[in-house]
Amino acid sequence: MAEQNLMEKIVSLCKRRGFVFPSSEIYGGIGGFWDFGPLGVELKNNIKSWWWKTMVQTRDEVVGLDTTIIHNPKVWEASGHTLSFTDPLRECKSCHKRFRVDQLEKDQCPECGGKLTEVKQFNLMFETFIGSAKETANKAYLRPETCQGIFLNFVNVLDTVQPKLPFGIAQIGKGFRNEVTLGNFIFRDREFEMMELEYFVKPGEDEKWFDYWLKERMKWYLDLGIDKKNLRFFEHPKKSLAHYSKRTVDIEYKFPFGWAELEGIANRTDFDLKNHAKFSGKDLRFQDEKGEKFFPYVIEPSVGVERIVLALLLEGYQEQKGKEEIRVVLSLNPKISPVKVAVFPLLANKPELIKMAKEIYQDLKTCFNTAWDDIGNIGKRYRRQDEAGTSWCITVDFDTLKDKTVTVRDRDTMKQERIAIDKLKDFFQTKLI
Ligand code: GAP
Repeated sequence: MAEQNLMEKIVSLCKRRGFVFPSSEIYGGIGGFWDFGPLGVELKNNIKSWWWKTMVQTRDEVVGLDTTIIHNPKVWEASGHTLSFTDPLRECKSCHKRFRVDQLEKDQCPECGGKLTEVKQFNLMFETFIGSAKETANKAYLRPETCQGIFLNFVNVLDTVQPKLPFGIAQIGKGFRNEVTLGNFIFRDREFEMMELEYFVKPGEDEKWFDYWLKERMKWYLDLGIDKKNLRFFEHPKKSLAHYSKRTVDIEYKFPFGWAELEGIANRTDFDLKNHAKFSGKDLRFQDEKGEKFFPYVIEPSVGVERIVLALLLEGYQEQKGKEEIRVVLSLNPKISPVKVAVFPLLANKPELIKMAKEIYQDLKTCFNTAWDDIGNIGKRYRRQDEAGTSWCITVDFDTLKDKTVTVRDRDTMKQERIAIDKLKDFFQTKLI
């Protein structure tokens, strides 16, 4: 399948099946903002839960946090965002559109051919005002990254969990950036969801832990089922590192529009804690077992959920040629597929089949996200569920009434097996661990 064609198919599937809708669509949309539909919200929630489980709950040394989107504006002075979170832009003097310098090929406006201004630094943070008066004194920002909330609560967490180094604090939440260049569907958004871990380590051990997190995070994507050939590391050259970073390596995915950043792993050194200590006047040092006080270094794996959604949809989308028609299947890892099981009565007009199928459906629903489907013939129902990424389909037929077994059909292999109703939960559970 041609790469660009694949992207168009994903956009269309997302709209048709309710994964992603353009935000405010009835008013013509709003660039860089997307809503997640009934299947999309399940997929997104499953990705977040899997990240939380693997990065927080199954680790002894990591705890979670949920901080506010708006912080005291001094936070962004200390973090360096007020000064440095900028894109160099040039504005067209005729149509007033703005363009990123690195994306301009000529010395004129790519849209209308007009003359361009000199390069200006444009801050990507969204501004808002606290209270009723729209005055500079009340200006605040929507956070462009979630990690500052973690640094702000560093001492609170030290006081409550008394951790030893290394230890981590994780957060999932919305981030906002007034991006100038959009496109590529949900890849670059103005509102998106971030999953960030700040891993605090002894200075001097930072390089070792950096390498550890590179391996861990790459393994995470491979475990989710992304093909090794579509993933690679990209080492940022020293001269283009963010203002806080000693080293940054991206995990890149081979998107249809080229290799691009999926996740960034940065060695933020002691930059953030030191600066917050300086700007707030508070002691934000860690005290070790010997009573020595110092600023730990921070290793940060950071990723946007929307980019994982896009990568998984692209990775899972398949068109398989059948005898009569093309089977579209979304081969998602069952751990994150939006719907785990769909239950069908073989015939929609047989009350005894419907009664039995409904009982199974209601029972499975208490453990897994389960769908009910009795529209059209079985073949049509399979196609519908395959396209939605549903991992298994159960058909209740006349044998079920006699022997209390059902047919379970696997989305990827299309293999069918008979399973006893009372063994169904165990059967799915073991595949979802
Ligand atoms: N705290 C570190 C940080 O914010 P970043 O590389 O600017 O680093 C981290 O962002 C991750 O957030 C990226 O790897 C990407 O997955 C995601 N991300 C960044 N900007 C995004 C945007 N405009 N739309 C969607 N995801 C974005």
